[in-house]
Amino acid sequence: MEQTVEQYLEFGLRNLWYPVLASWEVSSRPVGITRLGENIAVWRDENGAVHAIEDRCPHRGARLSLGWNLGNRLACWYHGVEVRFDGVVEDVPAVSSCPMTGVKCVKSYHVQEKHGAIFIWFGVDDAEEPKPLSLPEQMGNDEWSSFLCMADWKVNYQYAVDNVMDPMHGSYLHSASHSMSEGDKSAEMQHRATEHGFIFEKVGQSGVNFDWVEYGETGSPWLRLSIPYKKQFGPGGVFWIVGFATPIDENNTRVFFWRCRQVQGWQRDVWRFLYRNHLEKLHWDVLEQDRLVLENMAPNARQHEFLYQHDVGLSRLRRMYKKEAQKQLQQWQEVKTRQQGEDLVSANVNAAQQDKVGNHG
Ligand code: FES
Ligand SMILES: [Fe+2]
Repeated sequence: MEQTVEQYLEFGLRNLWYPVLASWEVSSRPVGITRLGENIAVWRDENGAVHAIEDRCPHRGARLSLGWNLGNRLACWYHGVEVRFDGVVEDVPAVSSCPMTGVKCVKSYHVQEKHGAIFIWFGVDDAEEPKPLSLPEQMGNDEWSSFLCMADWKVNYQYAVDNVMDPMHGSYLHSASHSMSEGDKSAEMQHRATEHGFIFEKVGQSGVNFDWVEYGETGSPWLRLSIPYKKQFGPGGVFWIVGFATPIDENNTRVFFWRCRQVQGWQRDVWRFLYRNHLEKLHWDVLEQDRLVLENMAPNARQHEFLYQHDVGLSRLRRMYKKEAQKQLQQWQEVKTRQQGEDLVSANVNAAQQDKVGNHG
């Protein structure tokens, strides 16, 4: 059955980098995750480099992440098959010679570690090289200081994206929060193009509440906004949020929010101290309000909506996603056709090898 654009989008657009884990979550033990519906084993080698391969042992399908970290490869817990970072089987210790050895049997992923998180490339065509990844400056450089905060929400990622594309909810859902209690409760909204995407904003009010949001794509899709802090929260000015919604599967999302301030020297220390001891809790309360609403939306809410002027931003982004999904679906079909041709060839090779195995018996 042909996949529709909507079905394709349930698992997330591809040809993009996504943050999948915080750096601190991966040490020497392999970690098994699901992102964009794919099971992936992630580990760090002895030099600290992070690797990611399909979390499926080519022998009989055990999860490789349950096995052992041998540096440049994982050993399956079930019967010891060793699979390298590039997906090639390095050794099958249980038998003296095995046709699996030296063959690329599982998918391997491109990985980058940046700003305290691990990013993985999800392509449509594995034969294609990934796009370069650049990220908003707020996430960390000499002038900026940031904290990464993550949560897993039981909702499709599209709801999480829509939520950030909707600044007006700040004045209602978060009206009792530490940062969003001020400003007008009604507004005109407008959008304008930016270098990497577009801004959706309130007309005539900025620097008061959650008044604007920017969608951008620089190899990875992000959302950016700023909200003023009250005076008592250290060195004045706004704080910034750069957010990502990474699909886990069609019903679950991991959200990543970098909370950032442009502070240096002692002010940076003050803010980092205040954040850890006071602000982090307040931010969590806000995020919990979002989670509560999103996890309890009506079934298939996105299919029965009555949108109004404040939803122009999310409608615009949905149209962009849809257009891109159409392109990717077509590319996907082409890749499938090509692979079917390749499979036919390797099926013949396999049949010859199975004959050999049979002969040993
Ligand atoms: S299933 Fe992994 S070695 Fe057998
Ligand atoms: Fe919110």
